[in-house]
Amino acid sequence: MEMASPILLFFLFLFPISLAASDSPYDTFLQCLTDHSNPSDQISSIVYNPSNTSYTTVLQSYIRNARFNRSTTPKPVIIVTPLQITHVQIAVLCSKSIGIQLKIRSGGHDYDGISYVSDVPFIILDMFNLRSITIDMASETAWVQAGATLGELYYKIAKTSNVHGFPAGVCPTVGVGGHLSGGGYGNMLRKYGLSVDNVLDAQIVNVNGQVLDRKGMGEDLFWAIRGGGGASFGVVLSYKIGLVPVPETVTVFRVEKTLEQNATDIVYRWLNVADKLDNDLFIRVLLQPVNSNVKGVKTIRASFISMFLGDAQRLMEVMKNGFPELGLKIEDCMEMSWIQSVLYWANYNSTTAPEVLLSRIPDSVNFLKRKSDYIQTPISKDGLEWIWKKMIETGKTGFVFNPYGGKMSEIPASETPFPHRAGNICKVQYSVNWSDEAEDADKNYMNQIRRLYSYMTPFVSKSPRGAFLNYRDLDIGVTDNGKDRYEDGVVYGQKYFMGNFDRLVKVKSMVDPENFFRNEQSIPPFPS
Ligand SMILES: Cc1cc2nc3c(=O)[nH]c(=O)nc-3n(C[C@H](O)[C@H](O)[C@H](O)COP(=O)(O)OP(=O)(O)OC[C@H]3O[C@@H](n4cnc5c(N)ncnc54)[C@H](O)[C@@H]3O)c2cc1C
Ligand SMILES: *[C@@H]1O[C@H](CO)[C@@H](O)[C@H](O)[C@H]1NC(C)=O
Ligand SMILES: *[C@@H]1O[C@H](CO)[C@@H](O)[C@H](O)[C@H]1NC(C)=O
Ligand SMILES: *[C@@H]1O[C@H](CO)[C@@H](O)[C@H](O)[C@H]1NC(C)=O
Ligand SMILES: *[C@@H]1O[C@H](CO)[C@@H](O)[C@H](O)[C@H]1NC(C)=O
Ligand SMILES: *[C@@H]1O[C@H](CO)[C@@H](O)[C@H](O)[C@H]1NC(C)=O
Repeated sequence: MEMASPILLFFLFLFPISLAASDSPYDTFLQCLTDHSNPSDQISSIVYNPSNTSYTTVLQSYIRNARFNRSTTPKPVIIVTPLQITHVQIAVLCSKSIGIQLKIRSGGHDYDGISYVSDVPFIILDMFNLRSITIDMASETAWVQAGATLGELYYKIAKTSNVHGFPAGVCPTVGVGGHLSGGGYGNMLRKYGLSVDNVLDAQIVNVNGQVLDRKGMGEDLFWAIRGGGGASFGVVLSYKIGLVPVPETVTVFRVEKTLEQNATDIVYRWLNVADKLDNDLFIRVLLQPVNSNVKGVKTIRASFISMFLGDAQRLMEVMKNGFPELGLKIEDCMEMSWIQSVLYWANYNSTTAPEVLLSRIPDSVNFLKRKSDYIQTPISKDGLEWIWKKMIETGKTGFVFNPYGGKMSEIPASETPFPHRAGNICKVQYSVNWSDEAEDADKNYMNQIRRLYSYMTPFVSKSPRGAFLNYRDLDIGVTDNGKDRYEDGVVYGQKYFMGNFDRLVKVKSMVDPENFFRNEQSIPPFPS
C-alpha cells in the first residue's frame, strides 16, 4: 500500500493558510488541497460544491434512507471524493485548517444519516472510490478498503475459493468503512463472532494526516476502531481481515407461522433455545403485523429464516434435537453454496447470478427508522401475547430477533468495544419502512416505533438499556438539558459500549483531544 510522507505533510501545514475574507469555503478548501497536491492530480475534479452539475448525483448516490433525501435536508458545502490515500490526508488537514466539520461516508447506510447530514456546515469525505480488495489465500486473509461494499467482498472471496467466507452483514450494499468500524454482524456470528472479531490489522489517517497501521497506531487505537465507530478516531482506509472456513454446502430455510399456527408457542421456544443450538445454526425471527384470514383482523407473522453451515440432513438432526417445535421438514431446506446463500439472504432468487453483488444500486429505497435492544431472559407466553397486541395496535413496526450465544458468548466483553456478549439471548431490531413522501408521515412512523420501544422496556436489558452502534439511533442518549455534549456522550456511550465506554473516552482523549473527528454520537474526549 502506498504511503505519503507524513513528515512532508507536517512541514507544509506549519504554515497557516492566508486568504482573502471574500473567499468561499469551497475556494479556500480547494486552494488548500491544490497547494498540497501534485498538479497532475487535478484535485479540483474530485471536489464538488452545490453549483457543480454532478453535486446532487454524487450526494444522492450513497443516501440509503429517503428521510434524508429531502430538499429540506441540510447539505454539505463540499463533497470530496479521494482517489488515493494522499487525498484523504490532505482532506483531513485542509478541513481542519479551515475549521469545517468533516463527515466520513463509505457505504452511506447509517440509519440516521450521520455520515452525510449535519446541522452545522460540513464537508463529506466520500470514500467510494477507495474500494480495492486484495485476497491472499496463502494466509487466508484480505485487505479491504473502506469504500468497498460487503457484496464486493463476498463476490471476490467466492471467486477465489468455494470454502471461505467472511462473517459480516447480509445487505450487500453496506460499506466496509462504517460496518467494520461499528462492529458488523451477520448470519455466521454464532460460529465466528462479529466482523471485528476477525480483523487483524487496519490502516487509518489520523487527525494529523498521518497514515498509520496497527503497529503505528498502537493497540489502544486499534482496539477502538474495531467496534467503537471509526468516525470518532480518524479515517479508516482499510482493514485486514481473516477469512473463515465455510463448507461447500450450506443449507437455508424460511418457515412462516402466524398466531393461528401457534407462533406464540414457537417464538417462546425459540427464545429458550436459539442461543444454545449448534453453533453452525443461526435462525433469525422476523415478526410483523399482517392481515389474517379473517377480514379486518390482524395477526402476527413469525418468519424463521435460517443459515446452517452444513447439509440438510445434519440440519434436520440438529432441529429434531434442539427445536422440534418449529416442525421443520426436509422439503423446507435448500442446499447451496455459501455465495448462493449470500444471494438468498439478500432476497435474490436462485436464478440470479452473483454479479448482482457488485451492483451499488440498492433494489429499493425507503423512508426508514431502526432501533435496537437486547433480550437477556426469555419472555413468557403472556408477555409475548401482550407484545403482539401492542404491535398490532401500534401499526406496522416489526421486529427482527437475531440469536446470540455460541462464539459470541466465548469472547470477553472487553475484547473489542462491542460489549454485548455472554448473557444475551438475542438482539432485537425494531424496523419500520414507509413510502409516504409527506414529512408528516415521518412523525407518525417515528412515533410508532418509539411507542413500541417504550412498551418493550420490561422485557429487555436494563441499566443501561443496551443498543447496537451499527443500528444508529439518534433518539437515545440526549440529556435533559440538551447542551452538555459530554454528558450526552456518557448516555449513548453507555448504551452502545457499556463498560468499554471509559476506555474509548481515554483513547479519544489521547488521539484527538480537540475533538476534530466528531458527529452527533461520537466518543467525546474528557472535558478539558
Ligand atoms: C439496508 C441495511 C442493512 C443493514 N444490515 C446490517 C447487517 O446485516 N448487519 C449489521 O451489523 N449492520 C447492518 N446494517 C447497519 C450497517 O452496518 C451500518 O449502518 C454501517 O455503519 C454502515 O456502514 P456504511 O459504510 O455503509 O455507512 P456510512 O453511513 O458511510 O457510515 C456509518 C458511520 O461510520 C462512519 N464511517 C464510514 N466510513 C468510515 C471510514 N472510512 N472511517 C471512519 N469512519 C467511517 C460514518 O462517518 C458514520 O458515522 C444495515 C444497514 C442498512 C441500511
Ligand atoms: C466544480 O466547479 C468548480 C468551479 O466552480 C470547478 O473548478 C471544479 O472542477 C468543479 N468540480 C467538479 C468535480 O466538476
Ligand atoms: C433521492 O431522490 C432522488 C430524486 O431526487 C431519487 O432518484 C433517489 O432514488 C432518492 N434516494 C433515496 C434514498 O431516497
Ligand atoms: C397448535 O398447538 C396445539 C396444542 O399444542 C395443537 O393441538 C395444534 O395442532 C397446533 N396447531 C398447529 C397449526 O400447529
Ligand atoms: C429472479 O429475479 C430476477 C431479478 O433479479 C427476475 O428477473 C426473474 O424473473 C426472477 N426469476 C424467478 C424464477 O423468479
Ligand atoms: C425496508 O427497507 C430496507 C432498506 O431499504 C429493506 O432492506 C427491507 O427489505 C425493507 N423491508 C420491508 C418490509 O419492506
